[in-house]
Amino acid sequence: MLLFVSNVRRLGHTLHTDGRCWIIGLAIETEKLSKIYTHDANGQPVGLIDLSLVVEEGQIFGLLGPNGSGKTTTLKLLLGLIFPTAGRGQVFGQPLGSNTYKQRIGFLPEGPYFYEHLNGVELLQFYGSLFGMGGSALSARIEELLKLVGMWDRRFIRVRDYSRGMRQRIGVAQALINDPDLLFLDELTSGLDPIGVVDMHHLLTDLRDMGKTLFVCSHLLKDMEPLCDRVIILNRGKECRTGTVDELLRVADQVRLVLSNWSDELKTRLATSAADCEVADKQLICHFQDQSQALAAATIAVEAGAVIEDLGARRRTLEEVFIEAVGGEEPCDQSSE
Ligand SMILES: Nc1ncnc2c1ncn2[C@@H]1O[C@H](COP(=O)(O)OP(=O)(O)OP(=O)(O)O)[C@@H](O)[C@H]1O
Ligand SMILES: [Mg+2]
Repeated sequence: MLLFVSNVRRLGHTLHTDGRCWIIGLAIETEKLSKIYTHDANGQPVGLIDLSLVVEEGQIFGLLGPNGSGKTTTLKLLLGLIFPTAGRGQVFGQPLGSNTYKQRIGFLPEGPYFYEHLNGVELLQFYGSLFGMGGSALSARIEELLKLVGMWDRRFIRVRDYSRGMRQRIGVAQALINDPDLLFLDELTSGLDPIGVVDMHHLLTDLRDMGKTLFVCSHLLKDMEPLCDRVIILNRGKECRTGTVDELLRVADQVRLVLSNWSDELKTRLATSAADCEVADKQLICHFQDQSQALAAATIAVEAGAVIEDLGARRRTLEEVFIEAVGGEEPCDQSSE
């Protein structure tokens, strides 16, 4: 029985003729998926270990982790390019490696290699032909994609003269040539400048708005934080944290008050009711265990002449969550979960 998750009620399900069950609305599901390449000097397995994940259709799902944590290995397993040593998974209800789902997916590898002598149109013609596309349908698709990724005006420039950002854009276009429902992107924003990163975010959110599911792998937490709906953090092949970005960043119910124009006297007064107070960039930042304490403190602060710069739920950065999760001796520090 291939029923891995408990959210059947929300998403609906269908029974395969052979009795297996698939959840409608899921793009990917894995259960204890493992690929052990070897063991290190300490006898620890190297690769991917017992990864269980669920990706719903229409999500931007981030698989995050430091170098060597198993992101590309996971991607290759989901693409059917390598085979698990244990565990199992499905993409659109089909077992990993099945040819049926491969028609519905697109893939941009890390640091993709393209034929340098081709221009953007020729390159997409080549990839389209691999899918048996041709004629006016392919020409129309190429025009649509080049416009989508912002390369239409630069369509006759050869790959050898591309900037890194242009390579990534044409890479996304080639991954979309067959109009896939699910897109796998490995380290998409690596090496891009800040404007390139924002452009890519817009492109990816546009694709999600078109109904596509995006599975992105990255070690660049800052880039992924505003983009992903849901993430898994891996370290040394093991899952460390899972959740929506909001869930991971929120610090259990604490409220944050940020003040400018504050005095030492006010700081001393607020510190008596705050969980902690610190000064950063000339601002006083205090955290409170509940909303009523924070509101009382805000009133005191305004009466004392301070200016409220921010008042709301306390949030960490994904980088802080990541360091907390992977910082210890063990692959994953579960202590604060
Ligand atoms: N074909 C292979 N044979 C042996 N070990 C491998 C093989 N491919 C990957 N590994 C090892 O498996 C671990 C996970 O590698 P993987 O490439 O999946 O990591 P990653 O998270 O994608 O890293 P990066 O951020 O550097 O791309 C690493 O320790 C790597 O050295
Ligand atoms: Mg990788």
